[in-house]
Amino acid sequence: MYQKRPGIYMADWFDAKGRRHRKQFKSANEAKKYEHRETALAHAERATRELKLAGGSSAGAAKRPRARTESVTSSVAPAKGKLGVMIPGMGAVATTFVAGVEAIRKGLAKPIGSVTQMGTIRLGKRTEGRSPKIKEFVPLASLDDLVFTGWDIFEDNMYESASNAGVLEPRLLDQLKPFLSSVKPQAAVFDHNYVKKIDGPNVKKGKTKMDLAEQLRQDIRDFKKSSGASRLITMWCGSTESYIEPTAAHQSVKSFEKALRENEEKIAPSMIYAYASLMEGVPFANGAPNLTVDIPAMLELSRQNEAPICGKDFKTGQTLMKTVLAPAFKARLLGLSGWYSTNILGNRDGEVLDDPGSFKTKEESKLGVLDHILQPGLYPELYGNMFHKVRINYYPPRGDNKEGWDNIDIFGWLGYPMQIKVDFLCRDSILAAPIVLDLVLFLDLAQRTPELRGIGIQEWLSFYFKSPMTPPGLYPEHDLFIQLMKLKNTLRHLKGEELITHLGLEYYD
Ligand SMILES: NC(=O)c1ccc[n+]([C@@H]2O[C@H](COP(=O)([O-])OP(=O)(O)OC[C@H]3O[C@@H](n4cnc5c(N)ncnc54)[C@H](O)[C@@H]3O)[C@@H](O)[C@H]2O)c1
Repeated sequence: MYQKRPGIYMADWFDAKGRRHRKQFKSANEAKKYEHRETALAHAERATRELKLAGGSSAGAAKRPRARTESVTSSVAPAKGKLGVMIPGMGAVATTFVAGVEAIRKGLAKPIGSVTQMGTIRLGKRTEGRSPKIKEFVPLASLDDLVFTGWDIFEDNMYESASNAGVLEPRLLDQLKPFLSSVKPQAAVFDHNYVKKIDGPNVKKGKTKMDLAEQLRQDIRDFKKSSGASRLITMWCGSTESYIEPTAAHQSVKSFEKALRENEEKIAPSMIYAYASLMEGVPFANGAPNLTVDIPAMLELSRQNEAPICGKDFKTGQTLMKTVLAPAFKARLLGLSGWYSTNILGNRDGEVLDDPGSFKTKEESKLGVLDHILQPGLYPELYGNMFHKVRINYYPPRGDNKEGWDNIDIFGWLGYPMQIKVDFLCRDSILAAPIVLDLVLFLDLAQRTPELRGIGIQEWLSFYFKSPMTPPGLYPEHDLFIQLMKLKNTLRHLKGEELITHLGLEYYD
């Protein structure tokens, strides 16, 4: 869905035969609903067709040993040289990530929560006993090769910023002080209208948004030179920006560049960073729920310059739980009448989200999950009337240690009601940091892989996001375990290993 002109909204979807359609509406909500319905219908039609095609031949297919997909790893460039990680927004998440990498490099801590560092991948049959570590299976950059820079509206270096964030203990930070103090923020591209609760002095000036983009491009080239990095990645860890809908300015690279030159209001700062990165051929991941790269102009640029993109909004606490529980209800065909989620948190992110504009961006990202997993269109008796509410309350005493409560009203056999309560006392940035690390390493892998670098959106990284990006007309996959299977199967595919379907009939031959 996108906004064509003020008051005109376009539903935008692909039918089961892959034909693109658009229909005009007077409200964003109507357009969105129509697009979701048509997309779900197209998927159902496609799934039925595929089932019919598979029918009859499936038993035979199960017995036949499946040919391994052709290996493309031979053409994946090796992870040679340094990998530069550039982070707009050097706050709690960014500093917990960078401090963590340095602590792990020094042998002071373990990379807990990181799939790339601790995860294994099963290859072949369950009887083969082949389960290498992921980092030994695919050629990932080594932690020793990571170098960092960032941008922020505050002048604090990473040591000062990490100390202010209060996530990591001073005892650990002091051991990392010389390294963290050396990472200093470059002046940011910032617009107070997009983040109303904060303001800072370390901000670039320019006549137009295009001037600001040019300055960022220069920063990127300078960092590449000064750090000696052979490859770069940009990872948005900046504050959540105010909610905007896609407009005509976001529809193509041409209209986007015109809008940059004309200082169009609907070009958010995060989009300027994304544009600068992609123009420099640098992959971009979006850890916040802002639109940023989730617009046709960025997809076009990403494909054109072979710089992969992914987003949006790290899947850390409450939504992680939601995408584990909701698939379980659907798997057992338990109904859902309501899901009330509330959060209290007291870090700067919580303060920013106290503004209604930024909260709306986060709310949209958190709300989409249930509809996509439960598919009320396909299961109206179970999920047609569910009430879903998400609240975030700024509560300073908690700092980064968030509490997320969920009250879930479900119903079972004959409609009898039941309740589930979840109280997750989590640490936001501790959950986010390993996600940042994995995304950095996997995006770099994508950039070195001919089959992946020109496709734009890296949907196989949906596992890490609350609101995974997909091409127009394709609904996102939210179920955490399907997402993990997709990620691991992508890695198997890249190495020419058999994809794992969990069919398992071959064990009974
Ligand atoms: N921690 C989590 O679990 C989690 C999960 C999902 C998403 N996120 C998102 O990640 C982002 C970072 O979270 P955080 O807890 O580190 O927040 P934070 O407030 O500690 O850090 C954000 C930093 O971004 C800076 N900033 C804002 N606008 C900027 C701009 N235009 N250019 C450069 N810097 C800018 C701020 O000054 C701040 O230092 C937020 O958008 C948050 O919503 C966090």
